[in-house]
Amino acid sequence: MTKPTTNNVGIPVASDNDSLTLGANGPILLQDHYLIEKNAQFNRERVPERVVHAKGGGAHGFLEVTEDVSQFTKAALFQPGVRTESLVRFSTVAGESGSPDTWRDPRGFAVKFYTTEGNYDIVGNNTPVFFIRDPIKFPDFIHSQKRRADNHLRDHDIQWDFWTLRPESAHQVTWLMGDRGIPSSWREMNGYSSHTYLWENAGGEKFWVKYHFKTDQGIGYLTQADADRLAGEDADYHTRDLFRNIEQGNHPSWTLHVQVMPYADAADYRFNPFDLTKVWPQGDYPLIKVGRWVLDRNPSNYFAEIEQASFEPSNLVPGIGPSPDKMLQGRLFAYADAHRYRIGTNYTQLPVNAAKSPVHSYSRDGAMRYQNPGDPVYAPNSFGGPHADPVRGAETASSYGVEDEVIRSAYKLHAEDDDFGQAGTLVRQVLDDAQRERLAGNIIGHASKDVSGPVLERVFEYWRNVDKNLGDKVAAAFGK
Ligand code: NDP
Ligand code: HEM
Repeated sequence: MTKPTTNNVGIPVASDNDSLTLGANGPILLQDHYLIEKNAQFNRERVPERVVHAKGGGAHGFLEVTEDVSQFTKAALFQPGVRTESLVRFSTVAGESGSPDTWRDPRGFAVKFYTTEGNYDIVGNNTPVFFIRDPIKFPDFIHSQKRRADNHLRDHDIQWDFWTLRPESAHQVTWLMGDRGIPSSWREMNGYSSHTYLWENAGGEKFWVKYHFKTDQGIGYLTQADADRLAGEDADYHTRDLFRNIEQGNHPSWTLHVQVMPYADAADYRFNPFDLTKVWPQGDYPLIKVGRWVLDRNPSNYFAEIEQASFEPSNLVPGIGPSPDKMLQGRLFAYADAHRYRIGTNYTQLPVNAAKSPVHSYSRDGAMRYQNPGDPVYAPNSFGGPHADPVRGAETASSYGVEDEVIRSAYKLHAEDDDFGQAGTLVRQVLDDAQRERLAGNIIGHASKDVSGPVLERVFEYWRNVDKNLGDKVAAAFGK
């Protein structure tokens, strides 16, 4: 038997099709509250899109730890054999919700783990580095990538202006202009935490760590020409690919690895290990396998499970803590703040964001709250309320010592720190001739679109600093 349509409080309604009118041709009556409720609700269906990473898609899955990394962390989800439910959202960064999946951009790779000790989020990208190294520049950077104030157009001139004025962007822009700037699908790309985090084992020993999700499908990319064509033919190309593959039982998987740096190494490692524009070369810190991460279930309601999903780098569980990476420190504030604005103060109670382990918090009330544990409403109390645990508590378990002056300054430089070195290594030592050729072609194509003279001069200089041959090739294409 089909279910009767009801209004929002369960009252059966008389018609899905006809409004209540005074006679067949007469005006609609205000007493048709169902008509009003339906349209009023509709007018409020959208929440603000994410200020960045607005276009994306996601799925559910699990992490299975196949190796033993307990010597590095006591985090419950990384103990041998543990299986943890997971959620992912993949995205582009600068486009609006509805923009084409195949635009050249880093891809967001936001993963949530519903662990036995609360939710743990790794909110990464498909690149191991980023454009900037201080969060004070994030709004400026994003403004240069999104639409101009005057004509409401995205503008290559302001993009190159920002990048060339901030040379620490060079490593990430090299990635972006290369093959990995347009993956062929979300299934065929790697994910990286990018940031360094702190791990602590059961004995209190600390390690710095970076995460690498390596695709088991193999890396795939799109040429600029194919991506441009697909942007017109199927703006949701990546969303469709992920959904279809999971629907057909072709469950994508990634092998999770970590790079682990002993705590004391950080002080004088040849690169500043907390600088987000740098990787740790794998010759120094090789990948250590952790387990297998699989996506095996599509959302049944995209709005509830993906649009309302809230990922936040501040969701860190016992055994895992932040590092002094300034960008990470900025992000520890930014995400929860964005969620309170975008989906409301009680966003952690939405089913997709709710922990699957018990929540005993002293937060109360606010709009749309439906779990309100009652008394006692304060701590400490003598009425049996929850109390904090200095041994198991998340932050205390992975703290580190700092004693210094309060200043505004760039990072302290380590022996081999500069803005262009690792980008040059990528171009000269990792890419093959064909990849270098496509990189040069993509840069030339991108910089050919309305980039003004003085900015263009800096573009040549920028690429000559990354790699002399590459810079000369770019300049030659403009007759310079
Ligand atoms: P390695 O030779 O040890 O590793 C090179 C890495 O580059 C591998 O992880 C490889 O893994 C990845 N890679 C291969 N082709 C490309 C490509 N076209 N674009 C981007 N990455 C690619 O080198 P190092 O660790 O010494 O790093 C050298 C350079 O490699 C770095 O400057 C950085 O740009 C890049 N890189 C480094 C990573 C790191 O964490 N150390 C991670 C990824 C890249 P895969 O093909 O599986 O992605
Ligand atoms: C989304 C801020 C850097 C990855 C967001 C959102 C904000 C934000 C406000 C929207 C959140 C929402 O509405 O749900 C910042 C700031 C940064 C920064 C202030 C630097 C200081 C980074 C970096 C990465 C990253 C370095 C990757 C390593 C992501 C991803 C999303 C996102 C993947 C989308 C999450 C989702 O799918 O819901 N960021 N970001 N961001 N950011 Fe950042």
